[in-house]
Amino acid sequence: MPTIALGVTGGIGAYKAVEVARGLQKAGHEVVVVMTEAARHFVGPLTFEAITRHPVITDQFEPGANADIAHIQLATDAALLLVAPATANCLGKMANGIADDFLSSLYLATRAPVVVAPAMNTYMWEHVAVRRNLELLRARGVHVVEPGEGFLACGWMGKGRLAEPDAIVAAVLDTLRRGASLAGRRLLVTAGPTFEDIDPVRYVGNRSSGRMGFAVAEEAAARGAEVTVVAGPVSVEPPAGVGLVRVRSAVEMRDAVMARAKGQDAVVMAAAVADYMPERATEKIPKEAGPLTLVLRRTPDILEELGRERAEGRLPGTLLVGFAAETSEVVARAREKRRRKQVDLIVANDVSRSDAGFEVDANAVVLVAEDGEQELGLAPKREIARGIVDRIECMLGRRKE
Ligand code: PMT
Repeated sequence: MPTIALGVTGGIGAYKAVEVARGLQKAGHEVVVVMTEAARHFVGPLTFEAITRHPVITDQFEPGANADIAHIQLATDAALLLVAPATANCLGKMANGIADDFLSSLYLATRAPVVVAPAMNTYMWEHVAVRRNLELLRARGVHVVEPGEGFLACGWMGKGRLAEPDAIVAAVLDTLRRGASLAGRRLLVTAGPTFEDIDPVRYVGNRSSGRMGFAVAEEAAARGAEVTVVAGPVSVEPPAGVGLVRVRSAVEMRDAVMARAKGQDAVVMAAAVADYMPERATEKIPKEAGPLTLVLRRTPDILEELGRERAEGRLPGTLLVGFAAETSEVVARAREKRRRKQVDLIVANDVSRSDAGFEVDANAVVLVAEDGEQELGLAPKREIARGIVDRIECMLGRRKE
């Protein structure tokens, strides 16, 4: 069974981490505990050592610790890193890349999924700095087990109490299950805008950053899928662990997608593909006193072509997922797009909002399928991606039956 690295930081809830360690063991996992210095004021390492039957890592510079392969290898060996309780200080370090002890260094060094269970005073929990750090971590795919409400150790009533051990264990098991749920599957995801050249200097483009498509790709890769991303000229860095094909125009994107679509389990078109392209001038168009008229021609509709190819039997078994960027009648238009383009699922988003859609880190979408609709409320794009990939997984599962 996989090893779980359990980080324990200095909060009163540290005693509940003992129950968490037990719960993980009962589920069949080896648990290696990493304690911060502050945590040791609340629980002794011996308690964890006796329960887990593994030495507890308490100090990065402890003599002997760095000669022990098991310690050094934890970053690569751990199937998951859980931090419970996670203090405001620990979350701040994780969000900002500070690595000044074993646990914070482990977070940076590991590529395993990460689950945090925060616990702190209500005002600390509500502080804008903590909110922002959690948002950053969520955007990176860190799973947050929300604290509970009630009577806190500091005497206050409110939110901030460490979640119950059972809920933390369940979140870990769920995250592990997702970690391999798309193993053996192949996904092709498009992301970003396309730029349609007017002349060698100017182009027509749109506001897509690539964030949404990359989040879907990252989530699918985290679940073990082999992911290829066809990206337009994006303004953000692509995720690690995916194959990347860079294109510029709608025509280039069409060629890249059609060349790779066959044999994919799913194609997800999150890119904002231009609908029109100008006739490209070979020389820079000189500036004149009067207005300039551009003649725009339709670009190829890639999603529609994929739908047609499948309907005619040339893409058997490939699940087709499109997006719909709308500014009004969002769901009605998405339904119509799904039917017209002959695809399985449309992710509809309202791009007139300033807090969701283009460029920003968050989105709010409705998943429109033949058997109904599901709303995913405003959340970081990585969380929205989790919902989208959950749905894709479910639809792929149904196809297999
Ligand atoms: O990149 P971000 O900044 O994170 O922003 C995310 C997003 C708003 C771009 C994303 O959530 C989104 O909505 N992407 C689809 C944008 C779009 O082109 O929507 P559409 O309604 O115009 O197109 C419908 C579908 O057809 C889309 O899947 C699109 O990829 C596809 N299409 C469109 C035109 C075309 N010529 N070929 C296509 O395949």
